[in-house]
Amino acid sequence: MVSFPTVYQRVSVHWRAIILLLILALATVTIAYGDFLDLITLALFLLFIASQVFWIGRIVDLGKWLFPDQPRVRLVVIADLVYLFVIAYSFPTTIGQGHTFRAAYYGLSNIVFEAVFWWWFVGSMLAFALVVAFGTVERATRVAAWAYRKARQSTKGRVAAASSSVADPVSPGRRHFLEQTAVLISATPFVAAGYGLLHSRLDVEVVRPRIPLARLPKAFDGFRIAQLSDIHISPFTTADYIHRCVSITNELKPDLIALTGDYIAWDTEQQGEVVRTLAGLRAPFGVFGCLGNHEEESGTEESITRLFTAQGIHILRQARAPIVLGGETLNLIGIDEPHGRTETEWRRDVHRKLRQIKELMMPETVNILLSHGDFPHMFDRVAELGIDLMLAGHTHGGQLSLDFVHRGLNLSHLIYDYNSGWYEKNGAQLYVNRGIGTTGFPIRLGARPEISVFELSRT
Ligand SMILES: [Fe+2]
Repeated sequence: MVSFPTVYQRVSVHWRAIILLLILALATVTIAYGDFLDLITLALFLLFIASQVFWIGRIVDLGKWLFPDQPRVRLVVIADLVYLFVIAYSFPTTIGQGHTFRAAYYGLSNIVFEAVFWWWFVGSMLAFALVVAFGTVERATRVAAWAYRKARQSTKGRVAAASSSVADPVSPGRRHFLEQTAVLISATPFVAAGYGLLHSRLDVEVVRPRIPLARLPKAFDGFRIAQLSDIHISPFTTADYIHRCVSITNELKPDLIALTGDYIAWDTEQQGEVVRTLAGLRAPFGVFGCLGNHEEESGTEESITRLFTAQGIHILRQARAPIVLGGETLNLIGIDEPHGRTETEWRRDVHRKLRQIKELMMPETVNILLSHGDFPHMFDRVAELGIDLMLAGHTHGGQLSLDFVHRGLNLSHLIYDYNSGWYEKNGAQLYVNRGIGTTGFPIRLGARPEISVFELSRT
């Protein structure tokens, strides 16, 4: 029988291989029994675990530097206990919030605690990704340098002098300096996450796309539609902030306002407040909207529609609203998110919704569809139906985005094809608004909240 110390010794020697095998086994099970989304979740979870182990290690390093007399084991235990306490304390308000959390629960201390948690969560993940990138580049450089030296030595016939292993051309002192510099630079995402939490999250951008529509009736040339999406009222998207967005929208003096869903985050008790705030929107041709997945999943579709109706806001649920100007008509259609408790039911409802859209279209004029999300590839399908313009939201532009480096380099691109801005396919156009609120982590980086105002044009 193998003794415990022997097992411990073998595990300690082969821990990297064991972890790799466990990850491979988990990934295999996920691929076999889950879907692509589960695989992404697993990858993010593993990245999170790895990042936490890495940063706790760096905090212990810092502790050792500040308190050199303390044994490292003691610092590791203290750091782990503090970390576990923070996770456990924030669990009810963050990871465990699910679909049940209530705004009434949020006192100032809970809001601060949750903000700090999400700052750490996003900052540590991004910073770890940078550390991995640095490490990969550094190792690749070493291997390239080693290969170069070997090649030179062999051409000079001095094979005997060559080392059989990857020699390190960098002195230990220089290596330590490079490592410290890499860790320091990698810590910049913590600063960026703080910026995204405190500033960028509320830094609304007004976007003014011009939408050419060849079939647009002459009377609507220059007609302006403002779009607001993904409001997500919550302690991080307050009524005051939404009110500011309403004022900005009104100052743009649009002819019509379109709302594309997700009015609440998860707290159903907030639906009255968000509707009251949005009731301040003003446009001569009215305020119209569709519902989002947060209304569908929270079971508030009926109740919030009634509240909107009482305030004169028209929620189009498998319905159309012909907009008439100068004797000519523009057709506005609104559709709910697909419903379904199972994948089959859900797909059946997608087909039903597509049939309904087709029935609601007016062939002789421009058809504009308000649809919260692109489920599944809704835009590709409605483009085939002949919809001229679809206005959507849902993605929040990924909330974390490097779109300014390369379009599509954002978090939502892991799941969706159309993430933010304007798209065209088969003569149909899609605009995906980044929304004004947040869900999950209350941070936006490279994906500012957006109010869009479209100018329709015949050319
Ligand atoms: Fe949303």
